Amino acid sequence: MKINSLAVVLLIGIVVASFSASAQNKYIGVKMCSMCHKSEKQGKQFDIWQKSKHAGAYKTLTTAKANEIAKSKGISKPAAEASECLECHAKARDVKEASYDVKDGVQCETCHGAGSAYKTLSVMKDKAKAVAAGMTDFKDTATIEKFCKTCHNERSPNFKEFKFEEMWGKIKHSVPKG
Ligand code: HEC
Ligand code: HEC
Ligand code: HEC
Ligand code: HEC
Repeated sequence: MKINSLAVVLLIGIVVASFSASAQNKYIGVKMCSMCHKSEKQGKQFDIWQKSKHAGAYKTLTTAKANEIAKSKGISKPAAEASECLECHAKARDVKEASYDVKDGVQCETCHGAGSAYKTLSVMKDKAKAVAAGMTDFKDTATIEKFCKTCHNERSPNFKEFKFEEMWGKIKHSVPKG
């Protein structure tokens, strides 16, 4: 009995701790990440992202075609205001922080997690520390693929199929080795 209640207390502690950790993390916006992630040496993540379709995912919702799709689904709002569309075209839609811009569409922090607690150089250089501070831990390729499919799936209005290798090849933004 004693052990059980101790376990419950511990569990609640863990839940509360992880909840408050993520609640504290704020979205700092693409501009902040790009300060350190645009040089040749770092691998030009900002450039690669900016040229990718993810950067224009919000803009896509402002087109006539998007509004037609929304209408056909019985959505009365313009697509760019509908949570049914923003959910995948700009994941963190409810963020009201000044540094976060919904117009940046599927941005760094949509995938890597809100960055206020891991953005400092000393934390960033140490993956374990960054993950502890809220950076998404992509353990292996299977984890990455599963993550992509949280948006690339049949709930997307024009979905056909998601070929992971090919699609990852289009947006990959590695740090150069050596
Ligand atoms: C103060 C500079 C700085 C800022 C700001 C910054 N980073 Fe970093 N980041 C780094 C450095 C340095 C590394 C280590 C790169 C290496 O491996 O050589 C890094 C590594 C990373 C990694 C790889 C972690 C790993 O080890 O697998 C990711 C992902 C990342 N940053 C994402 C982001 C995102 C997203 C933002 C914005 C929320 C951001 N960074 C903001 C400097 C920064
Ligand atoms: C938050 C939702 C979301 C996640 C997560 C996501 N995507 Fe996307 N992706 C989109 C949306 C929305 C578009 C369409 C953007 C547009 O055209 O306006 C898109 C478009 C793309 C495109 C361009 C499509 C093409 O045919 O050229 C590629 C490539 C892509 N995603 C790869 C990936 C990969 C790889 C992952 C996982 C690492 C991933 N995406 C994760 C939402 C997401
Ligand atoms: C489950 C995630 C998801 C939802 C929800 C979603 N989309 Fe998308 N959307 C995507 C992805 C991913 C793509 C890239 C194409 C693909 O692979 O399906 C895309 C592409 C598009 C495109 C460009 C593709 C083309 O055929 O030109 C438009 C327009 C679009 N979405 C509009 C909408 C509208 C409007 C809504 C809301 C009714 C919506 N989407 C809801 C994920 C989503
Ligand atoms: C669609 C999701 C998505 C978006 C958007 C995205 N990333 Fe990534 N990023 C990933 C994934 C998945 C990995 C691979 C992680 C791994 O291999 O461990 C990655 C890897 C990285 C790495 C580490 C590369 C390495 O070789 O270790 C850095 C740095 C990084 N991203 C920074 C950024 C920055 C900065 C932005 C915005 C300009 C951004 N990412 C946008 C999904 C994304």
